[in-house]
Amino acid sequence: MMSEMDDLLRALPKAELHVHLEGSVEPETLVELDRSLTVEGVRKHYVYNDFRGFLDTYKWVNGYLRTSADYALITRRLLERLAREGVVHAEINISAGVILWKRQDVDAMFEAVAEEAARHSVSTLFIFDAVRQFGVEAAWAVARHAAKWAGHGVAAFGIGGDELAIPLSAFQEVFDFAQSHGLRLVPHAGETGTADTVREAVKCGAHRIGHGIAAAQDPAVMNLLRERDTPLEVCISSNLCTGVVASLDQHPVRRLWDAGVPIVLNSDDPPMFHTTLLDEYRIAAKHFGFTPNELRRLAEDSLRYSFRAVDPTGPSGMV
Ligand code: ADE
Ligand code: ZN
Repeated sequence: MMSEMDDLLRALPKAELHVHLEGSVEPETLVELDRSLTVEGVRKHYVYNDFRGFLDTYKWVNGYLRTSADYALITRRLLERLAREGVVHAEINISAGVILWKRQDVDAMFEAVAEEAARHSVSTLFIFDAVRQFGVEAAWAVARHAAKWAGHGVAAFGIGGDELAIPLSAFQEVFDFAQSHGLRLVPHAGETGTADTVREAVKCGAHRIGHGIAAAQDPAVMNLLRERDTPLEVCISSNLCTGVVASLDQHPVRRLWDAGVPIVLNSDDPPMFHTTLLDEYRIAAKHFGFTPNELRRLAEDSLRYSFRAVDPTGPSGMV
């Protein structure tokens, strides 16, 4: 059912700044990639008891992405959906660390993704993600590939996975290398970890922080984010589905906003968390009382905190 609020949210020009390409695969698309699967079977995988369970499923999905054509197809499906949601710009995480772990050709995969992305109206930049628990050497390999594409569609180096496995500080040289090649830094931190992990991410030079919601536990960390104008990429449904927040009522998005912490709303792995970017804005409105003006500001901030101004050279789409 279309409501006035829905019309407003869809019409707002928005950026999606935290979405994983490999986490954007609808069950129907995964079945297209492997006919031995069923939509019901995939849907059963898209339910988790905890964060580790989610990571297992994420890995499982990645196992079905075998060719550059597969990566192109999931890029097309993601960008078509984002366009329908009124997204004008997307910064898309690619799990380069997982691609390398699968012993696939990350450059060939990225070429296919970028070629597909250039056909769409949504402008795009990409973030090459390392996997925290794969360790520092594996992260170096991702950073080197990212550096190769810096200024040619890849705007940032990120690190996802299990943030409790290895502290971010262990990756400092990798971050410095990435930054020296013109890449921005967007680590996941403060999702399953504490407020200290968010402080650590700031210290490492993060330009934006994936999740970072644990900052709400420490006023000093909230202050730090405010002073530095470092935004948190907040993904409400993701946090509920992975169990890192027990209920909507306990989600700190409103507290962060009221404390003046810069935030942007994102979908993370939309079908895997039964959400869309529009749904995240709807939840902010319905459950957290964000007013139309506040929602407008969130949408403006999503564009303002994008890396478009930093790296306008990427495969920028048709418009
Ligand atoms: N990779 C994909 N989604 C992720 C998340 N929410 N946290 C860490 N790594 C991820
Ligand atoms: Zn994420």
